[in-house]
Amino acid sequence: MSIQSDSSVPLSSNKHLLQWVKKMADICQPKSIHWVDGSQSEYDTLCAQMVQSGTFTKLNEKLWPGCFYAKSDPNDVARVEDRTFICSLSKEAAGPTNNWVDPFDMRRKLKGLFDGVMHGRTMYVLPFSMGPVGSPMSEIGVQLTDSPYVVVNMRIMARIGISVFKEIDKQEKRVVPCMHTVGMPLNAGVKDVPWPCNAEKYIVHFPDSREIWSYGSGYGGNALLGKKCFALRIASNLARDAGWMAEHMLILGVEDPNGEKTYVAAAFPSACGKTNFAMMIPPDSFIQKGWKIWTVGDDIAWIKPDSEGRLHAINPEAGFFGVAPGTSVKTNPNAMASLAKNTIFTNVALTPEGGVWWEGMTDEPPAQCLDWRGQTWTPQIAKETGAKAAHPNARFTAPASQCPTIDPRWEDPNGVPISAIIFGGRRATTMPLVYQAFNWTSGVYTGATMGSEMTAAAAGTIGKVRRDPMAMLPFCGYHMGDYFRHWIVMQKRLTETPRIFHVNWFRKDDHGKFIWPGFRENMRVLKWIVDRSRGRALGRETPIGWIPRYEDIEWDGMDFSKDSFDQLQSFDKAAWRREVMDHEELFLDIHDRLPKELIYERELLICRMG
Ligand code: GTP
Ligand code: SPV
Ligand code: MN
Repeated sequence: MSIQSDSSVPLSSNKHLLQWVKKMADICQPKSIHWVDGSQSEYDTLCAQMVQSGTFTKLNEKLWPGCFYAKSDPNDVARVEDRTFICSLSKEAAGPTNNWVDPFDMRRKLKGLFDGVMHGRTMYVLPFSMGPVGSPMSEIGVQLTDSPYVVVNMRIMARIGISVFKEIDKQEKRVVPCMHTVGMPLNAGVKDVPWPCNAEKYIVHFPDSREIWSYGSGYGGNALLGKKCFALRIASNLARDAGWMAEHMLILGVEDPNGEKTYVAAAFPSACGKTNFAMMIPPDSFIQKGWKIWTVGDDIAWIKPDSEGRLHAINPEAGFFGVAPGTSVKTNPNAMASLAKNTIFTNVALTPEGGVWWEGMTDEPPAQCLDWRGQTWTPQIAKETGAKAAHPNARFTAPASQCPTIDPRWEDPNGVPISAIIFGGRRATTMPLVYQAFNWTSGVYTGATMGSEMTAAAAGTIGKVRRDPMAMLPFCGYHMGDYFRHWIVMQKRLTETPRIFHVNWFRKDDHGKFIWPGFRENMRVLKWIVDRSRGRALGRETPIGWIPRYEDIEWDGMDFSKDSFDQLQSFDKAAWRREVMDHEELFLDIHDRLPKELIYERELLICRMG
C-alpha cells in the first residue's frame, strides 16, 4: 500500500492564498479540493484516473514509454482570439487590437458563469512558477482548475507544486490568481464526457489587478494559463511597468567553431517555425566545422537588462507545447527525441499498435489509424475526402529537459545574453529570405509592421495575411502603440543593443512551391546573422536594410543557385508599395499612441524606395 497523503489538506500557510481558495471554492462549489504537490506519484495517479474516465489513452509502453493520448472536443482545438478579452479599466489602455469589455461588467458576467460551475468535480489548487523557482526573473501564479488534463500538462510546461508553495509562503512575490473551468458542471443527471468544455468561451485578463479568468475551454493556450495568458498577456503589463520585455520568442545559442556562443531570440507568429528553429540541427558541413545549436526555449522569452545594461533572457517555461504535424526525424529530430517519452499528445492520430501518427511524421502513412476525431482513417479515405489524420493544430506536450540540444544554461536564473533579435512571418511574396535593419528604431519598425499568413493555431481564416506586430498581436496585454513605445524606450536603458533582423522561410515561386528548403538549411541564414552581430560579415545596403550577397552566405554542402538566391532576395518595388500601404492601415488604427520614431521610419523607408 502506498502512503498517500490527504490532498485536501492545504499545502500553503499563506493567509491570502487560503482565503482566496476558500472564496473561489464557495463560488465554484467543487465536490472536493486537491492541493497539487507536483510529485511524480500524483501525476501518475491523475493520468491513471484519466485513462479510467476516457480522457486519456495510455500509449504502447514499449513504443512510447510514459506517453498518453487525448482527443479534444472537435470544437475546442485552438486558441479563440475573438473570445479573448483584455479588461483594463479603460478601453484606451487595451487598445484597438484587443477585445475589451468594461471590467465591472465582465466581473459580473464571470461571477454568473463560475457560480456552481465545478459541481461534481475536483478543484485543483495548482501553484506554478514561470521561470526557474526562486530566480529573480521568475513570476508565480496559482491556477484553480477543474481539469486534471490541465494539471498534468502544466506539470510538464511549468515548475509546479511544493517548491512553489514554499516560494508563496515567503510572501516576497505577488502571486497572479488564475481561475479556470471547463464550464461543464456535473449537475444531477449529467454524465461526464472525455473532453468536457463549453460552447461559450471566455479567456479574460484583468491587467490592472493582474488576474486571469478562463471559462469553457480545456485546450492549450486557453487553459494552460501559465503560457499565453500569464507569460505574455499579463507579463507584458508587468514588463512594461518594470522595464523588461515579455515576448513571443524562442531563444537559442549558436556555438561557432571557436567555441564562442551567441544567443539570439526570434519572434515568429504561431505555427511559423519557432520550435523548429530553436532545435535546429545544422547541415553536416556546418557540424563538421564545429557549429552547434543549443536550445533555451521555443515559444516565450522574458528579457531584462542586467546591471551592466545588456539584455538577458530566460525561457519562463519548462516544456514544449509543440505543433505535431510536419514534425519528423527529417525536419526536427530534436523535437522527435524530446517527445519520445513522458509526453502527452493531443489531437494526433492513434495507430493500431497503440502509437501516434500525424501528417508529415513519416513518408509512409500507416495503413490504418483512428483520426483525431476517433474515426477510421486510411490513406485511401484521405485521398478521397481530404480528411486529415491529425488536426492541423495537434500538439505534443514534452519536457524541455528531454531535448538533446537543451542548453546547459537553459535554467540559469539570470538568463542568457541576447546579441540578436529576429522577426519573421509566413509570407508567400514580397519579403526576402533575410535582411538586417539599419538600427534599433528601424528594427522596431520592422517588427511592428510584420505580417504573416494566418495558421491553424487560432480559429480564423487560414492563409490571409494579417499584421502581427512582433508576433504579439494576440498576446500583447495592452495598447499596441504603447507596446511599440516600450520597445523604443527599452534601448535607452542598454549599453549594448542587439542587432535586429527579419527572415522569411516561406517565399513561394510562381508554381506555389517554397523557394527555400528551410529547416536545417536555415543555419546558413543564422550564421550570417551571428556573423553580422559579431561584426565579421559583409552585406549590401538596400531600401529595407542590409542583405547578404550570394557570396556572404556559406553554401558548402548545398546546391543553391545564385539565380534562386536572387529570386529569394529580390526587392519587388510594386509589392513593397502595397506593403507600405498596409503598414499605414495598422498605424491609422493606433495613430494616437504611435511613437513618432515609427512615423519617421516609415517616411524614411518611403524616401529610400523612391
Ligand atoms: P507555435 O507553437 O504555435 O508558437 O508554433 P511555432 O512557431 O513553434 O511553429 P513550429 O516550429 O511548430 O512550425 C510550424 C509549422 O511550420 C510546422 O508544420 C513546420 O513543419 C513548419 N516549418 C517550420 N520551419 C519551417 C521552414 O523552415 N520551412 C518550411 N517550409 N516550413 C517550416
Ligand atoms: C501558439 O498558438 O502560439 C502556441 C500554442 O504556442 S498555445 O499554447 O495554444 O497558445
Ligand atoms: Mn506560440
